[in-house]
Amino acid sequence: MKIALIGYGKMGKAIETIAIAKGHEIVLRVNSQNLLEKKHLQEAEADVAIEFTGPETAYTNILKCFEANVPVVCGSTGWLEKLPALKAVCLEKHQAFLYASNFSVGVNIFFEINKRLAELMAGQNQYDVMMEEIHHTQKKDAPSGTAITLAEQIMDKVHRKTQWVNAETIKSAELPILSKRIDPAPGTHIITYTSDIDDITITHTAHSREGFASGAVIAAEWLKDKKGIFGMKDVLSL
Ligand SMILES: NC(=O)c1ccc[n+]([C@@H]2O[C@H](COP(=O)([O-])OP(=O)(O)OC[C@H]3O[C@@H](n4cnc5c(N)ncnc54)[C@H](OP(=O)(O)O)[C@@H]3O)[C@@H](O)[C@H]2O)c1
Repeated sequence: MKIALIGYGKMGKAIETIAIAKGHEIVLRVNSQNLLEKKHLQEAEADVAIEFTGPETAYTNILKCFEANVPVVCGSTGWLEKLPALKAVCLEKHQAFLYASNFSVGVNIFFEINKRLAELMAGQNQYDVMMEEIHHTQKKDAPSGTAITLAEQIMDKVHRKTQWVNAETIKSAELPILSKRIDPAPGTHIITYTSDIDDITITHTAHSREGFASGAVIAAEWLKDKKGIFGMKDVLSL
């Protein structure tokens, strides 16, 4: 498979290592000094693009992939407000798009555990819930995309929480997400339900970027000949 790497930073390089080890070819590497153009993707005859740049650049890069008729796997976080508009363009132009706030298999299993726990807690009003996420200091967005996904999953079931806030809070309808930035820290997410009687905590700790990179390559292999909008749930059949 011919892969275009859009974003050649920590994640782009980790993805390259895994993709090459699996026998794929990297036909294009794009960074801030070498911006993406439609013709680059066409000349490189990319089968699929993997986009890991950041919050400011993801939307435009993905549109360029659509223009070049190249399926795109995107892991950039912090641009969720534009996701509905991008999905509409994808469907209108009959393109293929796969977004995941987190590509690791373990986190996607953690998502399912989170949803089930939230379902069980839906009627247990004696429990409050909060979240903590820990990442490296270069991370541009807070809270993490993964934390937002987890918060939305909780609020979808636990209706006594109506919005998340990226701070401590005393308002019972708010779900606090506390963001800590320390080095080195590939990513930890901790959800705690607390009552006067006991606490229940679930934690996912990434040991390295390898899980994200490997999941992104698996997603690209899966997306290559498809059309439509997908997530890791589809790739992993969860
Ligand atoms: N979904 C997941 O599983 C997952 C996991 C980890 C990280 N992420 C997210 O992935 C994104 C990238 O993370 P990272 O750790 O790899 O960041 P990074 O090390 O800062 O790398 C970002 C890369 O994007 C490039 N870039 C910046 N602006 C660009 C533009 N306009 N066009 C093309 N390339 C551009 C940078 O170029 P230069 O090298 O020239 O600066 C750099 O190569 C972040 O949003 C992060 O939160 C997602």
